[in-house]
Amino acid sequence: MIDLREDDEVPAPMISPALGFAARYFAGLVAAAVFLSTGCAGPQSALQPSGAAAREVAYLWWAMFWAGTAIFLLVLGLLLYASFQAPERRWRIAPVKMIVAGGVVLPIVALSILLVFGLRAGSGVSADLPENAISIRVTAHQWWWDIEYVDHRDPSRNFTTANELYLPVNQPVELLMTSSDVIHSLWLPRLAGKLDLIPSQTNRLVIEAEEPGVFRGQCAEFCGLAHAQMAFYAVAVPQEKFEAWAERQRSPATPPETRAVHAGKDAFDASGCVVCHTVRGGGAWGTEGPDLTHLGSRLTIAAGTFDNTRENVAAWIARNDDMKPGNKMPEFPHLDRETRLSIAAYLESLQ
Ligand code: CUA
Repeated sequence: MIDLREDDEVPAPMISPALGFAARYFAGLVAAAVFLSTGCAGPQSALQPSGAAAREVAYLWWAMFWAGTAIFLLVLGLLLYASFQAPERRWRIAPVKMIVAGGVVLPIVALSILLVFGLRAGSGVSADLPENAISIRVTAHQWWWDIEYVDHRDPSRNFTTANELYLPVNQPVELLMTSSDVIHSLWLPRLAGKLDLIPSQTNRLVIEAEEPGVFRGQCAEFCGLAHAQMAFYAVAVPQEKFEAWAERQRSPATPPETRAVHAGKDAFDASGCVVCHTVRGGGAWGTEGPDLTHLGSRLTIAAGTFDNTRENVAAWIARNDDMKPGNKMPEFPHLDRETRLSIAAYLESLQ
């Protein structure tokens, strides 16, 4: 018997190494479950689906999670049995039975169930669409998204934007996706699974937003230096709002209305921005960079990387390589801050 003085620390009870191992992993599992149930909401969470295709992916994820949990607990049970049962009882589970059950039967059953879930989730990619469904051509570039809304009946109504996808709520929309350089992957976790954009090939993805909101998307295939900063936003709005937005995007750029904005347009034209960017109706027809005809209406610049503010645009013009390393736009550090702010004011006026 150990004699404890009053100021002695009570020693921790000894537990067997196997039990300690099990306890630690069980605690980790509980912590992970709590984290998953509370910490996985947000504009880019696949576990908070807002569309049918994303819901299938979430089902698949939860099915795998709970199946994995069940198998983990089963293995843990066997481990405890093996650790604490008397040897003669342990031998009741014959090794051959274990190998057949755990190594053959269990994988066949588990993988067959997963296959059913997987086929269900995959069928959404090629879903049929109503005839008047909206088609959007998405072309990935290092490191931004060119987005063209296509009117199959009247191509004169096509229009181009960049890095922002507007969607009418509760309407399936097809994305016809390709790439101009390397393989990218478009992933809107709350709306659908991911699909690659491959040069000289068109992949089709059907997405549908079931509630209004702003959803973050991300390139999900490593595509070079600025891959992590190749994001975009999908904005889901009611049908009337979508129509109004599309009508505005279709129209040419607003001509400068104030003297300051005029000065900004002059600086934009004189600095060579027009070589790479298009401003429809504003005399700029470059195609190297994103279409800027309605840049002022977008939430972000640099493919979802910075808020679309006048200060950020002015900084971007001079120091974009610090802001998004590797991006292909030249820097214009020789333009003074006032000139850059006036160009930013012009771009902001392009609503
Ligand atoms: Cu584009 Cu990663």
